[in-house]
Amino acid sequence: MNKVSQHGQWSSRLAFVLAATGSAVGLGNIWKFPYITGENGGGAFVLVYLLCIFAIGVPIMAAEIMLGRRGRKSPINTMRDLAKEAGANPFWKTLGWVGVVAGFLILSYYSVIAGWAMAYVVRVASGMFEGVTADGVGSIFGQFVADPEKLLAWHSLFMILTMLVVARGVKGLERAVKFLMPALLLLLVLLVGYAMDQGAFRQAVNFLFSPDFSKLNSEGVLTAMGHAFFTLSLGMGSIMVYGAYLPSKVSIGSTAVIIALADTAVALLAGLAIFPIVFIHGLEPGSGPGLIFQTLPIAFGQMEYGAFFGTMFFVLLVFAAWSSSISLIEPAVAWLVENRKMSRMRACIWSGLVTWLVGIGTVLSFNITSDIKFFDKTFFDVLDYLTANIMLPLGGLSIAVFAGWVMTKEVTKEELNFNKPAVFKAWLFLVKYVSPVAVVIVFLKAVNLI
Ligand code: PHE
Repeated sequence: MNKVSQHGQWSSRLAFVLAATGSAVGLGNIWKFPYITGENGGGAFVLVYLLCIFAIGVPIMAAEIMLGRRGRKSPINTMRDLAKEAGANPFWKTLGWVGVVAGFLILSYYSVIAGWAMAYVVRVASGMFEGVTADGVGSIFGQFVADPEKLLAWHSLFMILTMLVVARGVKGLERAVKFLMPALLLLLVLLVGYAMDQGAFRQAVNFLFSPDFSKLNSEGVLTAMGHAFFTLSLGMGSIMVYGAYLPSKVSIGSTAVIIALADTAVALLAGLAIFPIVFIHGLEPGSGPGLIFQTLPIAFGQMEYGAFFGTMFFVLLVFAAWSSSISLIEPAVAWLVENRKMSRMRACIWSGLVTWLVGIGTVLSFNITSDIKFFDKTFFDVLDYLTANIMLPLGGLSIAVFAGWVMTKEVTKEELNFNKPAVFKAWLFLVKYVSPVAVVIVFLKAVNLI
């Protein structure tokens, strides 16, 4: 098959790898991974997370890219077409719909946190943290999130930036990501170097890499699995829609491995940069979503040229978030263009507006409505739990089942085009049995059914 998407195509394999890595590497790696690792006791959580990335995430990523390239449309229409091709129930397109909803919900809070990162660019640059103690940094953060107007302003600005790039189509991003990703990696390495010098590096390494399973409950296992999907952008159509713009000849399997390795490297480096600071200053690893905003500024306030490096760091974090947020909304925008015959611009305005509105819920959940809880969770916690722990794993599960059981072997083999038959066999085994069974077991355990 040699169809091309109506929305355009990546110029090369490298462009796709960069864009997909841009989608994968984001707040999930630098903001979320450290704080959920802290909340779930460290090593054992990290181990389960790594297992999920490579045994469940990578095969499903190959499947999701493959579905996208085979369909060449928005995930909703791709699933409709592929179900038809396989002679299966058209209901499969619901998978596309669930993905679109998940994308809106995730972006609605993602944008608020990206807004925090933007605010911190200004704060670090202006020298606000110079010589400030850990307590001081903590209270600066507390005051910041207590102010709904500030959070709303930054959230709005970030949404505008996102929609601007989405409106210009897939090409706009390619060039930027090429420089930003390596720069981010470099800066993280530098921060790890600084952290190594602080005296608590060993403790941090132990915390991250020596597993103590008594610290991990089944809820934590679900969080680890959910985060594997979240950090790889899997299960909601982002990777599928990017796959739709992938040239036909590119090898999907090795591409998926590269993206997963890059993503994992960034997350682990972020952990290695942050936890030494946590321990040396006696901070609480499980202090929640504010963790990086309460730790890194201490380091930037104390190190030489800290204002410079700190500014760079938060700028790059904003870019990493930016390149992820674009992929969160692309499935919806592509569908609006295909089915509602909207211009890309209009599609962007509408979907951006909806996301922005939902985001206000998250803005308020850190201050005015922080006491309103459902099942002990604020609005932000609920969105995060619902999307990362439930919707994405369910989406990933469905993708695995569809690729492994519904599509014919001939089609998947042709589209994946692995160079060794054994690799195809291994992939098929993983998506047919391992991933679905693993996801179901983790779900059942989390609700105490087994
Ligand atoms: N992978 C992104 C991150 O780690 C978030 C994301 C999730 C992007 C789902 C797209 C789809 O920050």
